[in-house]
Amino acid sequence: MTTGRDDKNHPAGSEASLETGTEKTAQPQGRTPEQADKAPSQLQTPEQSAESLAGRHFDTKLIHFGAEIDPATGASSVPIYQASTFHHFNIYDPPQYDYSRSGSPTRQALEDYISLLEGGAGGYAFASGMAAISAALMMFSAGDHLIVTEDVYGGTYRLLTTILSRMQIETTFVDMTDLEQIRAALRPNTRGVYMETPSNPTLKITDVGAVTAWAQEHNLLTLVDNTFMTPYYQRPIEQGVDIVLHSATKFLGGHSDVLAGLAVARTPELAAELKKLQNGLGTVLGPQDSWLMIRGMKTLGARMERSEIGARRLAEWLAERGDIASVYYPGLPGHPGREIQEKQSTGYGAVVSFDVGSEERAKRLLNRIKLPLVAVSLGAVESILSYPPMMSHAAMPREVRLERGIGDGLLRFSVGLENIEDLIADLEQALAD
Ligand SMILES: Cc1ncc(COP(=O)(O)O)c(C=O)c1O
Repeated sequence: MTTGRDDKNHPAGSEASLETGTEKTAQPQGRTPEQADKAPSQLQTPEQSAESLAGRHFDTKLIHFGAEIDPATGASSVPIYQASTFHHFNIYDPPQYDYSRSGSPTRQALEDYISLLEGGAGGYAFASGMAAISAALMMFSAGDHLIVTEDVYGGTYRLLTTILSRMQIETTFVDMTDLEQIRAALRPNTRGVYMETPSNPTLKITDVGAVTAWAQEHNLLTLVDNTFMTPYYQRPIEQGVDIVLHSATKFLGGHSDVLAGLAVARTPELAAELKKLQNGLGTVLGPQDSWLMIRGMKTLGARMERSEIGARRLAEWLAERGDIASVYYPGLPGHPGREIQEKQSTGYGAVVSFDVGSEERAKRLLNRIKLPLVAVSLGAVESILSYPPMMSHAAMPREVRLERGIGDGLLRFSVGLENIEDLIADLEQALAD
C-alpha cells in the first residue's frame, strides 16, 4: 500500500496501474518551481502552497484552497476538464490522469478542497451522498457487525437493512446519545460505529469524542455523517473519527442544483482504501458537478452563518407558541444535547424540526405555505420544508419511525437566506386554524 499524497494522486488506483500492475510516479499538483519563478506573488511551489494552506483560518481556506487559480492560464476558477480519458504523450512516462473514473483534475480539486476543510488525509467525490456512504460501508465484510445511530438518515437505514444485510453485514441501531446502549451493543464481530450528529430529523446530539475514544479502545472504525453541520461548524477528524461523510447535495453545494457525496479519510491508509472503493465501484462525481460543488462551497461560511441566525430565531418563535407539540433545535436552552454540541461544534446549524401534533395539521400547513420549497432535501439558499414521514423517512416502517421519535406531525425546516421575518409570517399564516 502506498501512502499520503501519492495515494491521493492515485497511481495505485488508476486504470493503467490496474491493467499493467505497474505503479506510476505521482507528479506534484499545483505549480512547478519554474511557474513560481515567473509569477510575482500568487504562484507558489506545491510545498509552499501546502504550508500556507495549513496555517490559514477556515474562512480563508474556503476561498484560497490551493486550486482557486488555474496555473496554466491564471483563470479565476478550476477548469472543467470534460474528458473521459487522457492522452499518453510518452508511453514511457504515463500521464498523471489516465481515465476519469480513476481520477479527473476537476474532481481532484474538489477532493483536495474537502480534505483540506475537514483536515483529512484524502477526500473522494461521489455521485451522491448515498454513493459516498455506500462506498465507505463497503470497507466492511460479510460477518461484520456495525453499531449505528438509530435515527440515521432513511436512505442509510435502507442501505443497512435491505442491502448490506443481504451481504451478512449486521447492524444494531442504538440511541447514540447513550454510551451505555453503545457499550451493550458490542459483539465479538463488531467492526464499526456509524454516527450522524445532529441526527436527522430529531437533531439528537452524539458526543463524537466520547464515542470515538470508546470505539478506538475496541479497534472499531468510526464514521460520521457530517451533512448537517459541515466542516464550517464541526470537524470530526479533529476528534479522532476515521471517515467523515457528506451528502454534499445539501449545505456544501448549497443551491439545490447538484447531487453529490463526499468522503474524507483521517489517515493515508484509509484514504487509499476509500480510493480503491471509489475506483472499484465507479460511483464518481462528474467534472461539471465537481465544478458546481467547488463554486457552491466557496460561500459555505457566509451561507451557514446567515442561515443559522434565521434558524435560531425560528426555533425560539416556535418554542414560544403554545400550539407546537415539540421543537427540536440544538441551540434552544432546553435541548438535552446543547452542552455537547457547544463542546464539539462552533454552531447549531440551520435545521429546525418541529411537531405540529398530527398528520392532518402537518399536511394542511404544507399545502398553505408559500415561501419554502416543500421538498425532500435541505441546506440550500432557499428554505426547504420537508415532511420526513413521507419523504426522507418513508423507507422506515411507521412503528420504527414512531419509536425513534419521528411522529406523524413532524416537519423539518431548513432555513435558507430569505428574510427570517418573512419566513415566520408565512409559517404563521400556514399554522392558523
Ligand atoms: C444526513 C444525510 N445523509 C445522507 C443523505 C443522502 O444523500 P444524497 O441524497 O445526496 O444521496 C442525506 C439526504 O437527504 C442526508 O440528509
